Amino acid sequence: MLVILKRDVSQVSLQAAELVASAVRKKPSLVLGLATGGTMVDVYRHLVRLHRDGHVDFSRVVTFNLDEYLGLSPSHPQSFHHFMHEHFFAHVNVNPANIHIPDGTIRGNYDQYCASYEEAVRNAGGIDVQLLGIGRNGHIGFNEPTSSIASRTRLKVLSRETLDDNSKFFAPGEDSPRCAITMGIGSILDARRVLLLATGASKAAAVAKSIEGPIASAVSASALQLHPDVTFIVDDAAASQLTQREYYLRVMEMTALLTPDRLS
Ligand code: PGA
Repeated sequence: MLVILKRDVSQVSLQAAELVASAVRKKPSLVLGLATGGTMVDVYRHLVRLHRDGHVDFSRVVTFNLDEYLGLSPSHPQSFHHFMHEHFFAHVNVNPANIHIPDGTIRGNYDQYCASYEEAVRNAGGIDVQLLGIGRNGHIGFNEPTSSIASRTRLKVLSRETLDDNSKFFAPGEDSPRCAITMGIGSILDARRVLLLATGASKAAAVAKSIEGPIASAVSASALQLHPDVTFIVDDAAASQLTQREYYLRVMEMTALLTPDRLS
């Protein structure tokens, strides 16, 4: 596990965007796992800028998003389809045929739909780089606390904390979604490289438990300790409850010297 400590949100998002752009330059047909949420907005802004400046070409990249709210159409302003279009796809040259986002409008036969999403990932050759945010409750994707560490893409009931975090984005009186389709923790662990970004004090407890606590289904992101190539990119506020910060800084210095590829 690599823990990259950055001063603030702008440095976290820049580092993440540079890692993604560099992965695309190394493998133009990269299979990229994408995430939504406030933390990701700046990452996409940097990727769009890098693309406009000619530093990264997404024409052969294949994307898979982690999750989508159940019951929201792609045009709903709070849908993750809408988020992705607004912040990323409308501004870069990802081939629309290569974009995959779970369909929030499906009804019935959820298992069959979710199995087909997993199959599409497999047919694409598996995810090379997976971007992740983290919830205050430690969720990754919409894998809420007590999600099975072996879980695959499925229908998931949202936790109270997530409902509370999300309700502010919906119009007064509008029911916010109670369920989502999400890739599972097992699906995420299959990615070849995982980049998790966390910023702000509200994430500090979840970050500390995920990196330094026991692996537990109560903290979904702690399952990443099982992954052989995971990088946490964390700002000062989100890192504030980590006890081994001095060690992570030394590891970063040595990584820059010995295996700089992991940082670029
Ligand atoms: P946020 O969401 O980036 O909006 O904080 C992260 C998440 O819940 O995964």
